[in-house]
Amino acid sequence: MRILLSFLALTILWTSCADDDMMIEMPTEPGDLSAIEYNPTPYELPQPVGFPAMTIPADNPMTQEGFELGRRLFYDVRLSSDDSKSCASCHLPELGFADGQAFSQGVEGEFTARSSMSLVNIGYNEFGLFWDGRVQTLEEQALLPVPDAIELINTWENVENMMRADEQYPTMFRKAFGIDDSAEIDSILATKAIAQFERALISHNSKYDKILQNDFSVEFTDAEQRGFDMFFDLGNEPGGSGVPDAECFHCHGTPLTTTGQFFNNGLDRFPTLADYEDKGFGAVTGDTIHNGQFKAVTLRNIELTAPYMHDGRFQTLEEVIDHYSEGVKFASNLDVNLREPLHLTDSEKADLVAFLKTLTDEEFTTDPRFQNPF
Ligand code: HEC
Ligand code: HEC
Repeated sequence: MRILLSFLALTILWTSCADDDMMIEMPTEPGDLSAIEYNPTPYELPQPVGFPAMTIPADNPMTQEGFELGRRLFYDVRLSSDDSKSCASCHLPELGFADGQAFSQGVEGEFTARSSMSLVNIGYNEFGLFWDGRVQTLEEQALLPVPDAIELINTWENVENMMRADEQYPTMFRKAFGIDDSAEIDSILATKAIAQFERALISHNSKYDKILQNDFSVEFTDAEQRGFDMFFDLGNEPGGSGVPDAECFHCHGTPLTTTGQFFNNGLDRFPTLADYEDKGFGAVTGDTIHNGQFKAVTLRNIELTAPYMHDGRFQTLEEVIDHYSEGVKFASNLDVNLREPLHLTDSEKADLVAFLKTLTDEEFTTDPRFQNPF
């Protein structure tokens, strides 16, 4: 019996020694990632004809690995306090990365103060993000929805713990950013990755683009051509089709269909500029002259992103055109290009809508690279 016991004890001792030996070969720290290869591949952005060069911050170059990580974070519902919503809940690829709502519901059912925005070609945005331009970079913007009191109602501390403990994130962060330990995963790196994903959201294969790029297999219909001429004020040029100028291009210029700047496009009339309930750009600059000005957003994929304007007040493109044709309300900072009612006929309005629909890019909205990886 005694021999048996000491044999058992020896075995136990021997096994635990063997375990210790094995431990020495395992990584010394639980979060050590240094054995995983770090060799990121640059992400080549397309350079569509006529598009400006995108400004990429020097401290956040685009890589395949960063893009993939950003995509996963963008669609991860664990960014929200109750695992119910992600960025993509309010920015859906099939809706041009908007959400089809006038106002979006956050995780506790409360509504956002303004309508969700399309993220199409967002990397070219130069004059500020949001309807009022209150944030400058995509990295800064991506920090906000997590702790937002209406949107994801979470803390970055929770999200950081989730990412560090996840099966895939530590390896993905290592491959994207070369960190040595999962404890280095933080909100700054996470938002860099999300920004990389967003910069890759380039729509450049609509019918309008193909015509711009001289793809002779694609042609405008007569109605689309007349709408194009109206949009860009080309109808009254020598040899033009004679259609009236609709002045759209001043603020929704080629080829991005946005200048990214802020204008009052005559949605509301108040006794004075100080009376605007949503002051828009004015609340950001603190200058009353900017009250009631909002970003002239992109019109790419506009067919998919109803309802329209910062408060989703118009349900259809026809209602939008009616607004610009005879609904514009006066304000002392109303843009000069909108001061004369257009008085378009019904068929002219239909032509403009036909042109706007040529900005739909299904190759973009269905691009597998941009879809939910979960
Ligand atoms: C609950 C809905 C909701 C969620 C979740 C949400 N957003 Fe948004 N997003 C909005 C709304 C609403 C706006 C416009 C807000 C404003 O202008 O005041 C917006 C605006 C933006 C803009 C500015 C676009 C532009 O043209 O200026 C970006 C970029 C953006 N969101 C990215 C994100 C990212 C990244 C996430 C996840 C980290 C996210 N959003 C989560 C609703 C949401
Ligand atoms: C003076 C500049 C200006 C001109 C000219 C202009 N727009 Fe706009 N557009 C804006 C601004 C600013 C907004 C956002 C306003 C808001 O939501 O408060 C906007 C919004 C829109 C929207 C809604 C976008 C969305 O995602 O909700 C559409 C559609 C649109 N414009 C189409 C047109 C068309 C078509 C024309 C020509 C008939 C035109 N615009 C002329 C400045 C302009």
